[in-house]
Amino acid sequence: MGVPTGRDGANSKIIPAPSASTDLAEGRRLRRVGLTATGGYVPDRILSNQDLEALVDTSDEWIVSRTGMRERRIVAPGEAASDLAVKAAERALEDSQLEAKDIELIIVATVTPDAICPPTACFVQEKLGVGPAAGFDISVACSGFANALSIGHNLIASGAFGNALVIGVDVLSAITDYQDRESCILFGDGAGAVVLEPEPGKGIILDHLLGIDGSGAEMIIVPAGGSRKPASHETVEAREHFLKLNGRQVFRFAVSKMREIVVELTKRNGMTVDDVDLFVPHQANLRIIESAAEKLNISEDRILVNIQKTGNTSAASIPMALDEAVRTNRLEPGNLVCTVAFGGGLSWGASLVRW
Ligand code: COA
Repeated sequence: MGVPTGRDGANSKIIPAPSASTDLAEGRRLRRVGLTATGGYVPDRILSNQDLEALVDTSDEWIVSRTGMRERRIVAPGEAASDLAVKAAERALEDSQLEAKDIELIIVATVTPDAICPPTACFVQEKLGVGPAAGFDISVACSGFANALSIGHNLIASGAFGNALVIGVDVLSAITDYQDRESCILFGDGAGAVVLEPEPGKGIILDHLLGIDGSGAEMIIVPAGGSRKPASHETVEAREHFLKLNGRQVFRFAVSKMREIVVELTKRNGMTVDDVDLFVPHQANLRIIESAAEKLNISEDRILVNIQKTGNTSAASIPMALDEAVRTNRLEPGNLVCTVAFGGGLSWGASLVRW
């Protein structure tokens, strides 16, 4: 799908003028879309830096100073992505005027689905009692939620659906190699959900900037288990069903890409970085967030950071942080929120929401 641009949250290639609703060639009208409720969920089990010291050659001091992380949450045996997604969705629905049965569309962003087939959205639909509804999963690693939000936004704006439940969920512990000290300290499990409806809503979604660059595909990859290298005894013995990453390269990419897309997204909406009241960045590494913030000249009080207790939860990171911003009263009507993500692909995505 095209990258949506333009102040009214619609695609500027299609929509010439920023207005609340616009005639399309087919006579349909684009609607503005509100983000009307948020929910987040993390499993009960805590994996602390001290727990990791017992697994690999690392230290609490190293992890805190290099990542900002102190603990992360991990699923119980048998707990899967849809279990977390349903809990986050229930919390979002509690805060909305909608009941599960009213939801028309479920989009689940995840790279750790319950199973390769069927989509995790189907498990969520069944457990929540949603529908009749449409639904699907999307896989864009840590940028998954940004993409899911853009798709949900555009499908409601076009009138194709009356509302949507957009979920970011990942159980990274399922693909984390707890013998690899560089990666196993980074990841946690969690889910975040938002409800989208035609306005009025809590936050009017304005615009998204999305992208991928497959030249960096090997930087963050699960080598086996897909069609290129189906799972076998050999791939499991070689630990190729776990996520491999080149942290140093990703670090450099993340800082420069975050800066670039925040500047571009605000600029094309006639704003500057200074107009943003709250940044909600992907929680991958506190030093990445701080370096990007320094380059963008953003003060600490304008950034939501919860990495100390969550670790990197991939597609769940942004919606969980957004939910925390809502529940801790960090947002007031009129505030401009900018979410910004990056991750495997390589991929990236930023969104602007007027609260
Ligand atoms: N405990 C102790 N030492 C560790 C360690 C750990 N858990 N992990 C790596 N080290 C060591 C390295 O072996 C290296 O040792 P050396 O200097 O003797 O070779 C040293 O620490 C420094 O490693 P380096 O890779 O330069 O560290 P860093 O400052 O780049 O931090 C990451 C490493 C992974 C924390 C950081 O690069 C990062 O967060 N990158 C992005 C993460 C990512 O890709 N996330 C997924 C996509 S969003």
